[in-house]
Amino acid sequence: MKSNIEARQRERIYTEVHPSAVVACRGLAAEIATLIRTRAAEGRNVVLGLATGSTPVPLYRELIRLHREEGLSFRNVITFNLDEYHGLTPEHPESYSRFMREQLFNHIDLPASQSNVPDGRVPRGEVFAWCRAYEQKIAAAGGIDLQVLGIGRTGHIGFNEPGSARDSRTRLVTLDSLTRRDAARDFLGEANVPRYAITMGVGTILEARKVVLLAWGEAKARMIAQATEGRPNETIPATLLQDHPDVRFLLDPAAAAELTRIKHPWLVTPVEWTPPLARRAIAWLSSTAKRPVLKLLDEHYGEHGMADLLTEQGPAYNLNIRAFNEIQHTITGWPGGKPNADDSHRPERASPHPKRVVVFSPEPSDEMLGMGGTLTRLIEQGHSVTVVYLTSGNLAVPDEEAMVAADLVLEFATSQAGGAATAARRVRDAIAAKQSTAKGQDTADTRRLKGLLRRGEARAALRNAAVPSGTERFLDLAFYENGRYRQFRATEADVAQVAAVLRELKPHQIFATGAGQDPASVSGMCFDVLRSAIQQVKTEGWWQDCRVWLYRTPDKAWAAHEIDMAVPLSPAQLTQKIQAVYQHKSQRSQMPVFEPGLHEAWQQAEAAARSLAKTYDALGLAEYEAIEAFQRWHDDAR
Ligand code: F6R
Repeated sequence: MKSNIEARQRERIYTEVHPSAVVACRGLAAEIATLIRTRAAEGRNVVLGLATGSTPVPLYRELIRLHREEGLSFRNVITFNLDEYHGLTPEHPESYSRFMREQLFNHIDLPASQSNVPDGRVPRGEVFAWCRAYEQKIAAAGGIDLQVLGIGRTGHIGFNEPGSARDSRTRLVTLDSLTRRDAARDFLGEANVPRYAITMGVGTILEARKVVLLAWGEAKARMIAQATEGRPNETIPATLLQDHPDVRFLLDPAAAAELTRIKHPWLVTPVEWTPPLARRAIAWLSSTAKRPVLKLLDEHYGEHGMADLLTEQGPAYNLNIRAFNEIQHTITGWPGGKPNADDSHRPERASPHPKRVVVFSPEPSDEMLGMGGTLTRLIEQGHSVTVVYLTSGNLAVPDEEAMVAADLVLEFATSQAGGAATAARRVRDAIAAKQSTAKGQDTADTRRLKGLLRRGEARAALRNAAVPSGTERFLDLAFYENGRYRQFRATEADVAQVAAVLRELKPHQIFATGAGQDPASVSGMCFDVLRSAIQQVKTEGWWQDCRVWLYRTPDKAWAAHEIDMAVPLSPAQLTQKIQAVYQHKSQRSQMPVFEPGLHEAWQQAEAAARSLAKTYDALGLAEYEAIEAFQRWHDDAR
């Protein structure tokens, strides 16, 4: 068996991988509760360092539950938050002060005088003195016993962006452009994201007696691997935690996915070479050695930690051929299965034909970005396809777009007869009333209008993709309609709605996305809702004949070894897909930029589909214009 220490040899920080964020947080909350109770029994205080953002939300929910259901009291607790945007009042919807009240403080018995969050209102000239006082207050409280951290995509802890010194203290900092872009959705546009923040320093954090960093979802995986396995350096501030004597990272499987022991286990321990692991390793070897699979030589295997595979199952020629064939068999122009064909080496079964297919889209446009070309093919090949939009997506519509729509309704309604004008006027007034620097939340009218706008775009896109009109469904799941970014909370009602659609349509094929995403993100939450709905229907007869395929939006393409079905697109099909994506006009510049220069959603979709084709080409397979890729999902996956 693998030695645990051997597998962790590259990790300079102790990492724990838990089945989910909720499970990880349950353990940490129990640990915090024990600390609080032990200290209370001794008549002593506990000082907690707290973080905001979506990451710690499940921890705070569990602490609230412990307070409500198990009588955990916070009267002997003092808290210090890591950071706050500079320039925001504590009432601003995105202020960390408000976040803490809404997510934790308002629901427990922590005395108000014992919670401390940096004050975003302190005038620039007074910030230095204010920060020193914050540090002194921490010291006067006895120092931080346990510091909870999240991690940003820049590797920041608190708001210590790349370049922050190891001995930095609480101070005013300029936010990194990537951090601002990541916050753009919360602030309804990047222009509204503050440029500065007050944050505890790296030195302040390192003085905490215990540090626990939490990370969920695949977007964090690269940074987690670098922070854990890279050398300590100020360009990735989280690496500086390696110097701390009592630090650990709590991860979910998606955030842990880039750790060497998980991604390339053969590099750190002897492994059992199952066919899927061998295929994964050979695809990796091909890209690392920069040689097509069929040109890999024995020495390439030897030089890259795969000598035992060679000994067990070699020579290279045999291994290469086997892997090549397996990858070759993932390619199909028949995503719904090829009727009357031998399907023993095809990703999807031939019968039944046609199939009932359901495509779940977390927000309108996800389905086009991830699988627009495949959608068209499924229709052309005679399948009965229903696209189900899980949320309305109204939060992602910029005010400018809504203003254009409201003006249109207003002009139209006032030139005609009827009552739409009043509602349109209300929307215009509400948007105009939002201050430019402190944009509040949208009114119900505005959200409805924005949601309708996205419906219109979704229908236009479907028309472009040749999907028959009237077959789509808009579920407008309640968790989204009643929620805000980072704070969504799905309920049984959401699950019941999705389960009802599944029972009604009884699909043979489901296409979905969001597995492995941050569980607090829209797509992550939608996937969890779908998974729970599947739990409810999986004992029904029709389910036994249903397959689930995962697609991905352009921000995270599958690696070659992760792909179970690759659907090639011709140049004309790629153009058609791009035109369909283009219909989502309100989303043009709303996507997080994952490749410099690609700001538009359609550019990103095009680049992702082309790059998958290049990946296959580099492995030595046929050279296609573009590819859309899918992974088969099994209930026990993740
Ligand atoms: C928040 C903080 C930040 C976040 C990080 C991750 O107080 O200090 O470092 O922890 O940006 O944010 P989320 O959790 O939203 O992914």
